[in-house]
Amino acid sequence: MSDILLEVKNLKQYFPVRAGLMKTIPLKAVDDVSFTIGRGETLGLVGESGCGKTTVGRTILRLYEPTGGEVIFDGESVTAKNITHMRKQMQMVFQDPYSSLDPRMTVEDIIGEPLDVHKLYSNRKERREKILELMATVGLNAEHATRYAHEFSGGQRQRIGIARALAVNPKFIVCDEPVSALDVSIQAQVINMFEELQEKLGVAYLFIAHDLLVVRHISKRIAVMYLGKIVEVADSDELNENPQHPYTQSLLSAVPIPDPDITRARQRIVLEGDVPSPLNMPTGCSFRTRCRYATEQCAKECPALTDRGDGHFVACWNK
Ligand SMILES: Nc1ncnc2c1ncn2[C@@H]1O[C@H](COP(=O)(O)OP(=O)(O)O)[C@@H](O)[C@H]1O
Ligand SMILES: [Mg+2]
Repeated sequence: MSDILLEVKNLKQYFPVRAGLMKTIPLKAVDDVSFTIGRGETLGLVGESGCGKTTVGRTILRLYEPTGGEVIFDGESVTAKNITHMRKQMQMVFQDPYSSLDPRMTVEDIIGEPLDVHKLYSNRKERREKILELMATVGLNAEHATRYAHEFSGGQRQRIGIARALAVNPKFIVCDEPVSALDVSIQAQVINMFEELQEKLGVAYLFIAHDLLVVRHISKRIAVMYLGKIVEVADSDELNENPQHPYTQSLLSAVPIPDPDITRARQRIVLEGDVPSPLNMPTGCSFRTRCRYATEQCAKECPALTDRGDGHFVACWNK
């Protein structure tokens, strides 16, 4: 059995967008993205809103048909044909626990639904036992089973969503900004729970966030995305201590550090301008319009993501 659970190769997701009456142009939401995730490992995926993180997650799970590239899960290519049996192995936890759970369903029904769909019990008693076990796994009380989703706080709703994802015993979960909608005081609790579940169940995560602070403790490695492309991938500590791509450097410079001496010594790098429209991307490197190191070469050709040693990959001509 290979150590690699998920392999994403040159994944592309272009959405056709109307430009006039008869014409559509491609919005390159994900453009040539490649990475791997090991069994039981967490890869963090960070980048600002609109850079394509959710689209990567949804395309891996084949909620969208990819425009190009390939996803290999557990040695098998994920295609439209075999998606039914793969659905059990790959799950998603959504960003907004308010809109992703039907408020009129009871906790029992929400968690029981995937058990029903995949016929994972032989009688009502077993179904009930499985639901209670899942609730205990995510720290919900048994007496909550008959309550409705709308009666719960954001953090508790996210626990219900996680129990629902775990119901089919998946090997891999896309966690799409699972704490972004929660109060800061609750975020750490929920992240810790994801970590504990991983230790216990050996499940692998693609952990998406727009904030580096959120992913850096939970992730073994981190991939940084900008306008549909991965610009840097490295071990979590390496990325935090030795960021190479100017975009990663600016993201890190915005992360608060508890030590005032370090904060004083470190300069905040504020990026100029706005993120370009994905419908009107700059030529060459898409970050160049906001990059203080940009040269003529950057406008001509897009730099490839290349290994700078020890699995630290950077896509930049000047680094
Ligand atoms: N179904 C869709 N149709 C057209 N454009 C989309 C669709 N989903 C996302 N996009 C566009 O793709 C880009 C990436 O979106 P998304 O993956 O949601 O980014 P993120 O999760 O990083 O905020 C954005 O420009 C967004 O407007
Ligand atoms: Mg998103």
